[in-house]
Amino acid sequence: MKAKIVASRENIISDIDRRIYGSFVEHLGRAVYNGIYEPTHKSADDMGFRGDVLELVKELNVPIVRYPGGNFVSGYNWEDGIGDKKNRPRKLDLAWLTTETNEMGIDEFQEWARRAGSEVMLAVNLGTRGPDEARCCIEYCNSETDTYYANLRRKNGFEKPFGIKLWCLGNEMDGEWQICHKTAEEYARTATETAKVLKWVDPSIELVACGSSDPNMPTFGSWERTVLEATYDYIDYLSLHCYYGNRDNDTANFLSRAEDMDRFIKTTRDICDEIKAKRGSEREINLSFDEYNVWYRTKDEEKTMERWQIAPHLLEEEFNFEDALLVGCMLMTLQNNADRVKIACLAQLVNVIAPIMTENDGASWKQTIFYPYMYASIYGNGAALKQEIQCDTYKSKEGWDIPYLYTSVIDNKEKREITIFAVNRSLNEDMELEIKLDGYDNLKLKEHVNLYCDDLKAKNTRDNEKISPKNCKINHSSPVFLKKHSWNMLRFKY
Ligand code: AHR
Repeated sequence: MKAKIVASRENIISDIDRRIYGSFVEHLGRAVYNGIYEPTHKSADDMGFRGDVLELVKELNVPIVRYPGGNFVSGYNWEDGIGDKKNRPRKLDLAWLTTETNEMGIDEFQEWARRAGSEVMLAVNLGTRGPDEARCCIEYCNSETDTYYANLRRKNGFEKPFGIKLWCLGNEMDGEWQICHKTAEEYARTATETAKVLKWVDPSIELVACGSSDPNMPTFGSWERTVLEATYDYIDYLSLHCYYGNRDNDTANFLSRAEDMDRFIKTTRDICDEIKAKRGSEREINLSFDEYNVWYRTKDEEKTMERWQIAPHLLEEEFNFEDALLVGCMLMTLQNNADRVKIACLAQLVNVIAPIMTENDGASWKQTIFYPYMYASIYGNGAALKQEIQCDTYKSKEGWDIPYLYTSVIDNKEKREITIFAVNRSLNEDMELEIKLDGYDNLKLKEHVNLYCDDLKAKNTRDNEKISPKNCKINHSSPVFLKKHSWNMLRFKY
């Protein structure tokens, strides 16, 4: 099969905000306990953080990590996780039906993030709680004043404020599964008042309001309109969440979910702009895609497992090769919407639907999705360029025309480098790729990395990394070939 990409130096979508390569750590299963934190592990540091996990997170180059949930946050009392560990209460977590020991909290997480080279994106509880707890929490985290919560932080050993700049106004409040789920009107009211008090305490922060938990939510659209009408002047971003699965074992359709994600983004963007126009506002609300991934094999596990365990094996999705292809495509969707998507979080980071897996008291390893995420984060920086794709198409279940080739093109002006990410979605045919990049002199292909495996269902395990990147041979006198069902990164110098 032949395909062609045309892009031009002049035709830019936008500079990419590095925060689109963010991730997420929730108090859920073994994400925190025996994931990032395991004081008895042989690699643990002075604060009990696993050193092997920190090294893998650093490899991923994660700019921002959302914390502490997720559904968990809607029942969380942030005060339970600060100060002397001996005095921290054990509590029932109603989101995942487990026991929360509170050995980790904001005190420790902000330090873990610092050691990982990441910023914290902190969610406040708008389920069981509201503006009052949120204002105390931000005073604790960000204030330099001589007042109760700022002094409590100092007493707990943190003289300097944590300086958390990005805050989420609750989590998935449109979903009936959420602890204290709200109607759009109820959420809009609480979110507005919480936004006001948070920004009064620290006017330098940015805020994310909850959009829809999925594009198939019955309230998608009306939820956004109601929330935006109320919060418009106080928030900076609206969130989107989405997980995909290959339940019918229809891989071609599964890989077309990147287009579904694209539609979700563009529809949400249009709703933001509709409200902007209606209000005659100068401000633009941008998007925070703060949960996305493949997740279907381990859904609803918490409903059947033994209740109230501490750090049980929950949502430990074992990713296969086709999952890595879709995650690679989803990252390209985010890059191609860089004009409006400024933040995104791969959900999640360790053990729970995650690129990194660990054994309690043992090894850690990279799941298949680790690599497309790592390459995007390291090389996907600069300006995203618009592309014209010429290529055969197939039909998705909805009847959409899906080009076999899925790409993003990024110009890193500082490094004088063009990076093309490309997935050949044909399950049977290799692809001969013609690349036309206008406006660049002396372009030279320097690197072609691919992820390929004949078996779409192959997985990485502790002892066998079946899916890992390979360097492809570069032949300047012949076209670039993309193997059937493969993920690729092409790096050119100019
Ligand atoms: O990431 C797992 C869960 O998915 C999160 O807790 C929730 O926000 C979403 O439904």
